[in-house]
Amino acid sequence: MAPDLLITDVDRAVALLQAGGLVALPTETVYGLAALATDTEAVRRIFVVKSRPLGHPLIVHLASADEVGRWSREMSAAAGALGAACWPGPLTLVVRRSALVGDDVTGGRDTVGLRVPAHPMTTTVLARLGSGVAAPSANRFGRVSPTRAEHVIADLGDLLVPGRDGVLDGGSSDVGVESTIVDCTVDPPQILRPGGIPDEHIAAVLASARMGLAGRATGPPRASGMLAVHYAPLAEVRLTTSPDAAVTLAAELAASGRRVRVLDPTGDLVAAAHTLYDDLRRADDDGIGVVVAVLPDAAGLGHAIRDRLIKAAARPHDPPC
Ligand code: TXA
Ligand code: MG
Repeated sequence: MAPDLLITDVDRAVALLQAGGLVALPTETVYGLAALATDTEAVRRIFVVKSRPLGHPLIVHLASADEVGRWSREMSAAAGALGAACWPGPLTLVVRRSALVGDDVTGGRDTVGLRVPAHPMTTTVLARLGSGVAAPSANRFGRVSPTRAEHVIADLGDLLVPGRDGVLDGGSSDVGVESTIVDCTVDPPQILRPGGIPDEHIAAVLASARMGLAGRATGPPRASGMLAVHYAPLAEVRLTTSPDAAVTLAAELAASGRRVRVLDPTGDLVAAAHTLYDDLRRADDDGIGVVVAVLPDAAGLGHAIRDRLIKAAARPHDPPC
């Protein structure tokens, strides 16, 4: 029987990675397209498959926090406190890299993003590999991240090779938005991308260790998730600040002949984050022309949901601002 891309066996995932293949791994945030972090050829192929510009650094995923000493030559006290409080979980720490981390992974930077994901299948894969994997989200560059194995197959299935690569099916990602990225190479640390761990929780962990947190990063993007346009579905995304305004705008657009859907993630933020990317993908599958989205308040998971919706709404033809 011809090999299938979709796999359910962690040992098969380990074998494919050891042989230099790419495997989409489930995590609690989104699926990542993984290669052995020390395999330069496999890491290069990630960029080709994703159409990701070279130089956009990849996160290295580890089985446990005990591994960070191999991949970083310097963990600040802040990084130690955040890792102890949030790992395994949806947090990426940018720290000084060790000699084990190649330029292909970091885009030539002297820093590396490290994360200990919390998905039992992927933890087992990482522990059996005895190595970290470099993995960006398993979507085409700039598009909506995958939270199910079938999203990965829909995006990258044509570019992955059955028998050489795989997609490990671990069900739907619990959190549904990517990890919070904290740059711990600056003092005080700075959030580069809001994500699954709310900003307030990061600030509280640092405060309890008598440390501060800098304001949100501005200026030239240091993370690709900081680009103005990202996480974009094919549908146009229009933003409103209240459910009533969304209904009014949706009615106007429908009257002008557009196929419209309202997306209101302002109720249960945990449930909204869990389904956000699935909702955006489904809108495309259903041929929706405009998604009218209500922005939640900037609190808790609302930081990450707002960030993703604002970036999904930024169109390449918008004037730069
Ligand atoms: O939840 C997640 O973080 C998911 C899962 C798969 O772990 N991964 C993910 O990877 O979202 P990706 O490549 O789609 O986004 C990672 C972000 C990029 O914006 C990249 O620029 C940033 O992390 N990043 C990685 N290493 C960095 C570094 N050394 N300095 C600054 N930013 C870095
Ligand atoms: Mg991504």
